Amino acid sequence: MIVAGKVAVITGAAGGLGLAMSRRLLAEGARVVLTDISQEALDRALAELDSSGSAVGVVARASDPNDVETVVTKTVTEFGRLDVWVNNAGITRDATMRKMSVEDFDLVIDVHLRGTWLGTRAAANWMRDNGGGSIINVSSISGKVGNAGQTNYSAAKAGIVGLSKAAAKEVGFAGVRVNAIQPGLIRTPMIESMPDHVKTARLAEIPLGRFGEPDEVADVVLFLASDLSRYLTGTVIEISGGRNI
Ligand SMILES: NC(=O)c1ccc[n+]([C@@H]2O[C@H](COP(=O)([O-])OP(=O)(O)OC[C@H]3O[C@@H](n4cnc5c(N)ncnc54)[C@H](O)[C@@H]3O)[C@@H](O)[C@H]2O)c1
Repeated sequence: MIVAGKVAVITGAAGGLGLAMSRRLLAEGARVVLTDISQEALDRALAELDSSGSAVGVVARASDPNDVETVVTKTVTEFGRLDVWVNNAGITRDATMRKMSVEDFDLVIDVHLRGTWLGTRAAANWMRDNGGGSIINVSSISGKVGNAGQTNYSAAKAGIVGLSKAAAKEVGFAGVRVNAIQPGLIRTPMIESMPDHVKTARLAEIPLGRFGEPDEVADVVLFLASDLSRYLTGTVIEISGGRNI
C-alpha cells in the first residue's frame, strides 16, 4: 500500500489511461477524485471502480480556471487534503498543417497546455502551504520527437515538459515535486483500430517488441505519486518500450 493515506486528483479519469491510474492508486490505498467532462461517464467509471467511498467524481473542464479551483476545494472538503495531482485530460484533433483549422490548434493547446498549467498552479498553490505533494503531467513521446499530423498535439506535449521543469524549480523549496511522463504507443482503442500493416511497422520500432499496457503507465504514475520517488522532480519518464530513445 505505497500511497496509503494520500489523496489524489486525476483529470480526464472517466476512461482510458486516467481510469487505469485511478484503479492503481485506489488499490494502493489512496483516495481519488476523478474529474472529467461528463457526469454519466464519471458515474460509469465509479461503478466500475467499486471503490466503497474512496473515490468521487467531479465534473470539471481542465482548461477552465474556475472548474480547476473548484476541484481543489471539493477535494479538500471531501477528503481533507491533497497530495497528488495528475494532469491527464486530453484530446486530439489531428490534421496536417495545410488542413488543420486554427480552432483545432487552439483547442488542443487549450486542453493540454493551458489545462496542465492551470492544474499545476492550483495544486501547487495548495500543496506548498500544506507540506508538499506530487504533480504528474502527462506529456507524450509526440512531444519529444514530433508527429506529422499532430503539430498542435506535439506542441502542447512539448510545452508540458517545459512548464513542468519551470514549475519544479519554483515550488521545490516547499516540497512540491513536478514530473512529466511520456507514454509511447499504449494499447488503447486507438491502437487496436490501426490497420495491421501499420501495427507491424510500429512494432518493429519498439525495442521491447510490443505495445504498452495502460497498467504499465499507471505503475509509473503510482511510483511518481508515492514517496519512492521523493528525490525526483523536473524529470521526464518515457514509457515507450524504448521507442524513439
Ligand atoms: N493512449 C496513448 O497511447 C497515449 C500516449 C501518449 C500520451 N497519452 C496521453 O494520455 C492522456 C490520456 O489519454 P487516453 O489515451 O487515456 O485518452 P482518452 O480519450 O481515453 O481519455 C481522455 C479523457 O480526457 C477527458 N477530457 C477531454 N477533454 C477534457 C477536458 N477539457 N477536461 C477534462 N477532461 C477532458 C475525456 O473525456 C476522456 O475521458 C492524454 O493526455 C493523452 O494525450 C496517451
